[in-house]
Amino acid sequence: MKQDAFPFKVEANETYFFCACGKSQRGALCDGSHKGSGVRSIPFQADKTALVVLKEGQIIEVVPDVSKSF
Ligand code: FES
Repeated sequence: MKQDAFPFKVEANETYFFCACGKSQRGALCDGSHKGSGVRSIPFQADKTALVVLKEGQIIEVVPDVSKSF
């Protein structure tokens, strides 16, 4: 299934595991539903508060200015 790009706000000094399989019940974040699919989550360590733009299971952009709108 094709997904539109969408932003996800990350906080400085936090680690996130983004869903790359599309099965998570937690939206952009991995909830372990990928197990057995051969797909792995995408780890991301935020060194600053920013918007991470996700599309089809990949990070396509990191926008450090969180005031930028989409
Ligand atoms: S639930 Fe999708 S990658 Fe983990």
